[in-house]
Amino acid sequence: MIGRVNSATALAAVLIACVAAVLTVVTWLDVREARQETFRAMEARGVVLAASVAEIIADPLYRGDVDRIRDMADVARQQGGLKMLQVVAADGRLLVEPTDTGPAVGSVDEEFVIVSLRDRSRTIVREGNSLHVVEPVLAGSQLLGAVHLTYGNASLSRIISELTTRTILTGTGLALVSFAAALIVARVITAPVRNLNSTAQTLASGRLDARVKPQGPKEFRELGQTFNEMASQLQESHIELTEASKAKTRFFSSVTHELKSPLTAIASFTNMLAKDPDGNLDEKQAQFVEVIRRNNAQMQVLISELLDAGRLETGTMGLVMETIDLSETIGEVVETMLPFAASRQQQIVYTASNSPLNIRADRTRMNQVITNLVSNALKYSDDGAKVEIRTHATDTTAYVTVEDTGSGIDPDDLKKLFLPFHRSPRVASSGVEGTGLGLYITNQLVKLQGGHISVKSDLGVGSVFSVGLPVTD
Ligand SMILES: Nc1ncnc2c1ncn2[C@@H]1O[C@H](COP(=O)(O)OP(=O)(O)O)[C@@H](O)[C@H]1O
Ligand SMILES: [Mg+2]
Repeated sequence: MIGRVNSATALAAVLIACVAAVLTVVTWLDVREARQETFRAMEARGVVLAASVAEIIADPLYRGDVDRIRDMADVARQQGGLKMLQVVAADGRLLVEPTDTGPAVGSVDEEFVIVSLRDRSRTIVREGNSLHVVEPVLAGSQLLGAVHLTYGNASLSRIISELTTRTILTGTGLALVSFAAALIVARVITAPVRNLNSTAQTLASGRLDARVKPQGPKEFRELGQTFNEMASQLQESHIELTEASKAKTRFFSSVTHELKSPLTAIASFTNMLAKDPDGNLDEKQAQFVEVIRRNNAQMQVLISELLDAGRLETGTMGLVMETIDLSETIGEVVETMLPFAASRQQQIVYTASNSPLNIRADRTRMNQVITNLVSNALKYSDDGAKVEIRTHATDTTAYVTVEDTGSGIDPDDLKKLFLPFHRSPRVASSGVEGTGLGLYITNQLVKLQGGHISVKSDLGVGSVFSVGLPVTD
C-alpha cells in the first residue's frame, strides 16, 4: 500500500513536471512567434523608409540633402528600432552615416551591400537580433548608390532572453515544488500505515503488549483503535492459553508422578516373582511373569521420559553442573548397555582416551544423553551390528560421536527428529518400541548444558550423532 501511494505520488509529480515542460515549450514558441512578428514589422517599416530615402537621394531636387535624410532617420528611430542609416555610393564608398557624429569615411565591406549594388536589387538580411535593409538608389537606369538601414532591438533580445529564463525557472520550480509536495503528502498519508505495520511486526515477533498510537485521518485512527482492541484480545487469550497449558503440565506431571510409585512396586514384586526361588511357577506362568515385567519396564521408561519432558517444558529441570570426565561417563554407559547389545549379538566399540576429557555438565543427565544415543544406535541397527563411540576435542569443545550402520534416517524425518513424540513412520510401524521422546529430551539436555547436537544420516547406510560440550581445564 505504502509502495503504491509512493508510486502514485511519483507519477503525479512526473505528470506535473511534464505539464510544466509543455508549458515551457509553448511559452518559448510564443516568444519565438513574437520575435518573428517584430522582425516582420521592422522589415515593413525598413522597406518603406529605405525606399523613401532612396527616392529623395535620386530626386535631382534633393540629391545629396543630408539634413533631410537625417531628419527622416530621426523620425524612423523615434518609431523604434532604427540603429543606423548609411548612404553608400555606387562604388561602395560611404557617403553618409547620419546616426554617427562626425564625417562619414571609408567604404562598406558588408557582403549583402555589395551584392545589392551589384544586382541593383533590394536585400533584406537578418543577423541575430538585427535586420539590414539595403535599397539601391536608381536615377532611371543609372545606379547612384544604396541606402543601408540597420534595425536592431537590444531591449527585445533582453526581454526574450529574460522571458525564456523565467519560463524555464518557473517550469523547473513548479516541477520541484510539486514533487516535494507530493512526497510530503505521501509520507503524511502513509505514516499511520507504516506505524501500524511496524506494530504488527512487533506483535508477530511475540511482544504482545505492543500497541499503535492512533494518528492521521479519522479512518486511520479508527483502524488503529480496532487494531489495538484486536491486540488486547490476542494478549488476553495468550495469557489464558499459557495458564491453561501450565495447568495441563502440572496435572500431567502430578499424574505421571503418581504412576511412578505403583510401577516401581509392580517392578520389584514382578522381579521377585520372576526369580521364583521355590520353583512354584510352571513354564507358562513364568512366561506371563516375564511379559508383565517387560511391559512394566516399558511403562517405567515412558513415565520417566514424560516426567523429564514436563520438567523441560516448565523449566524445572534442576541441573547440577560440575566438572566431569566425559570418557568416564561414556565408560559407564557402555558398561550398562553391553548386556543389551549382547542380547542381539551387537558390539559397542569404544576406545577411551588416556587423558581425561573434562567438561562442565550434570553427571546423571550427561549419562542419560549418551545412553539415549547409544540405545537408539543399537535399537535401529540389525542384529550383529557394530556401534562405534569416539571422542575428540578442540581448545573449547569436547565431542562425543555415536556412529551406527543401522537403518539411517529419512531426510523428511531429520527435520523433525528433535520434536517431542516424533518417530519415523517406518520405525513406528516396524514394532520397535519407543516413545519418540528420547531425542527431544537429549537435545534439550545438551542445550541446557551449553552444548549442541548434530546428526548426519544416510537412509540404509547409518547415522552419526555428535554432541559438543564446553571443556574445562
Ligand atoms: N540411530 C538411529 N538410526 C535410525 N533412526 C533413528 C536413530 N535415532 C533415532 N532415530 C529415529 O528418530 C526417532 C526418534 O528417536 P527418539 O526420540 O529416541 O524416540 P524413540 O527411540 O523412542 O522412537 C526414532 O523413532 C527413529 O525413527
Ligand atoms: Mg530413543
